[in-house]
Amino acid sequence: MRKLIGSLFGIAVLAGALLAGSQSQAQVKQGKTRPLTTKQLMGGLVGPQCKELGAMLQGAGPADDKAWEMAGTKAALLNESGHTLMADGRCPDATWKGACDTLQNCSKVLLEKVAAKDASGAREAFTAMTGSCKSCHAAHK
Ligand code: HEC
Repeated sequence: MRKLIGSLFGIAVLAGALLAGSQSQAQVKQGKTRPLTTKQLMGGLVGPQCKELGAMLQGAGPADDKAWEMAGTKAALLNESGHTLMADGRCPDATWKGACDTLQNCSKVLLEKVAAKDASGAREAFTAMTGSCKSCHAAHK
């Protein structure tokens, strides 16, 4: 009898572990209730905005007021992505949260530098922001 209870307990633990594993996988790939997948968020918003913003910040930075405004839009969208990545039960662990904090905070500093039309300050904040891409991808991509 004890043996039977023991093995039933073992099966329950195993099933729990498998379920938790598939759930945390689902959280990384997609939130719990909303349709946007992480792949769509990355490929459609985060990747292109980050690439274009990086290019805009080269040299003397954006050419005119309109281009600076566009740089601000991109920094704000990246900031919002840092919040979206934490929403809807998506966050699986501390590494993910830490990367989202970096993305949120550095894009906020980047926005301030863009508002001041400070190209080298904006570049510095941009480089710090991309640390978030690397740390999350190393663990979860
Ligand atoms: C909190 C975690 C996290 C952060 C921060 C993050 N990513 Fe991702 N990224 C992922 C995950 C997870 C995937 C894989 C998604 C999949 O294929 O299901 C991914 C995939 C991608 C892809 C491939 C998309 C595709 O179409 O396959 C690109 C491009 C990308 N990220 C760009 C970035 C950039 C640029 C940054 C920083 C500005 C960034 N990511 C920050 C988690 C993150």
